[in-house]
Amino acid sequence: MSDQKNPSTQQSAKPEKTAMVYEPTEYVRQGSWIDSMETYRDLYQQSVDNPEKFWAEQAERFLYWKEPWDKVLDWDFNDPHISWFAGGKTNVSYNCIDRHLKDGRRNKAALIWESDERRSKVYTYQALYTRVCRLANVLKSYGVGKGDVVAIYLPMVPELAFAMLACARIGAIHAIVFSGFSAQALRDRIQASGAKVLITADNGMRGGRLNPIKAQADEALLECPSIQKVIVVSRTQQQVDMEPGRDVYYHEEVARKDISRHCDIEWTEANDPLFILYTSGSTGKPKGIVHSTAGYLLQASMSSKYVFDLHDDDVYFCTADIGWVTGHSYIVYGPLAQGATSVMFEGVPTYPDAGRLWDIVERHGVNQFYTAPTAIRSLMRSGNEFPAAYDLSSLRVLGSVGEPINPAAWEWFYHEIGHDRCSVVDTWWQTETGAHMITNLPAATPMKPSSATLPFFGVQPIVMESEHKEAATGEDGRLCIKFPWPSMVRHLWDDPGNTRFKETYFSAFPGLYFSGDAAMVDEDGYYWLKGRVDDVINVSGHRIGTAEIEAALNSSPGVAESAVVGFPHEIKGEGIYAYIVMKHGAEADEDLEHRLAGVVRRNIGPIAKPDVVHVVNELPKTRSGKIMRRILRKIAAGITDKEQFGDLSTLVDEDVVDEIIETRPTK
Ligand code: WT7
Repeated sequence: MSDQKNPSTQQSAKPEKTAMVYEPTEYVRQGSWIDSMETYRDLYQQSVDNPEKFWAEQAERFLYWKEPWDKVLDWDFNDPHISWFAGGKTNVSYNCIDRHLKDGRRNKAALIWESDERRSKVYTYQALYTRVCRLANVLKSYGVGKGDVVAIYLPMVPELAFAMLACARIGAIHAIVFSGFSAQALRDRIQASGAKVLITADNGMRGGRLNPIKAQADEALLECPSIQKVIVVSRTQQQVDMEPGRDVYYHEEVARKDISRHCDIEWTEANDPLFILYTSGSTGKPKGIVHSTAGYLLQASMSSKYVFDLHDDDVYFCTADIGWVTGHSYIVYGPLAQGATSVMFEGVPTYPDAGRLWDIVERHGVNQFYTAPTAIRSLMRSGNEFPAAYDLSSLRVLGSVGEPINPAAWEWFYHEIGHDRCSVVDTWWQTETGAHMITNLPAATPMKPSSATLPFFGVQPIVMESEHKEAATGEDGRLCIKFPWPSMVRHLWDDPGNTRFKETYFSAFPGLYFSGDAAMVDEDGYYWLKGRVDDVINVSGHRIGTAEIEAALNSSPGVAESAVVGFPHEIKGEGIYAYIVMKHGAEADEDLEHRLAGVVRRNIGPIAKPDVVHVVNELPKTRSGKIMRRILRKIAAGITDKEQFGDLSTLVDEDVVDEIIETRPTK
């Protein structure tokens, strides 16, 4: 907890810039689920006055239960333990598919898949059922059952959604690894999860470029003895190495004569794990966030409905990759639990040109469009002629997630994409929270650009100034949550005694869940998020631990040590700035930057590549040997006036700081 970022120096939206308040328009309010602040406030009050009653009612309303629960909630944030709907039996696949076959949605489009090449495929709920059942039966035929882990390393192909729901159907736990991660990152996650089966593809296809996924998987699998079977989706029909006895083709397996198109549901207990998703933290190893069955689905479903004001005729489009939590909750589970039509996009926003997303909006008649500030900023840069060339009149709700949205990006989104009549929902949440936590409701909440506004139902945030003291209105502090919410992380995978779980989330502020974010609450009770206060960099809305990048850099020959910090970046939000100390006698030649980029790409993936490499003689260290990161962050941000560095008296050698300032690369 020492040497944390000072929130007040974070790149953030200043409230004075936002005297501007935007009221939801009549267009958005018409026919909306929650159309006034009174309704929101009334429901919110109920949800915090009597959370158990509130959530029990929602659980009845939003989910199908095979067997009722015995106890709504059991929790402890000191010796962390969270249980929702204990004893209740349900199944996520049943809730996302089977019940819609009986409620009139059988022939409704569940997924619209838009390929990189601009082809689309539509899967109705009935088609989804058959696909999922067949794959579930294939998994069963390999002996996969309740509690087994299935690793998934797939690009954005429809089989990715089928695989998730197939696992859920038989009570298996999926662990999806983003297809942009490297072989080594995949290996680490498979080893940590103990997965028995891997589902992958021959290649990925993004922006016209092939990503050799199977080759990466093969490299990872050299050191993954737990994997017994590898199912390969043939995306590009290219020849890839297949290991006899281990590797099988997806399309051949699901077509096997012994594979039925029906698959019985494995009823799972409400708290049984649905999935593991690895995410970065302050320390080296990524954490395996474990999400539950019922609580997770309940909040993902309910927030999908209210935050996007999702109606039955709507077409909903989230641009995230399913390799991150946004895709889990808001491409697959939330929308499908709602019986919605969800668009899944394989490609990139700029291919073949910067009109691609607007082309999708027009062709599919998208009503809700959910994306990240980094995408907005990059499209904004491409010019207004792109959105202007498309019919965007179907849009009603625009969503933002991943980092604080800067006012300029917010305004552009609101005016150029929403044509001054759509609402922009700014949704704050995390991999750990599973679903939206702080967000406006599109037809109810007045919007202040750059503020995530107010808590979602049942969510009880608190901003802390120090361990036991709440921050005053208008003052920056640390964002914590006081009370459990249904879609909350339940524990970390492979964390005996809950040690790391407790240490990471429940130790800085006793009795509270600590988010790792800085925040401020204004006089209207609106929350303003100010970025991470731990050693996590938010690059294009993706969380990357500085420790992971440093470990990669340090493994490069010639590097003695390194320190990685974030710095404000126009498009990515935060960029990666790497300070490198070379070993004695090793030379920082012209090729160094390239070599370091390579080692990071191999260890983690291209997203973690440093934007700036700064070779220094020494890192500023305290007498106790800790790197003083706050100084490095300032220098990376272009602040070179030592007056602004705060107390330097604990440094071993202040001259080190001068040397770093003098050698700062200017580009
Ligand atoms: C971190 C969580 C949740 C899905 C995507 C990222 C930042 C996320 C917002 C927002 C300000 C935001 C926070 C948070 N963040 N949404 N609307 N406003 N900051 O999930 O990888 O777990 O990252 O993203 O810093 O802690 P994640």
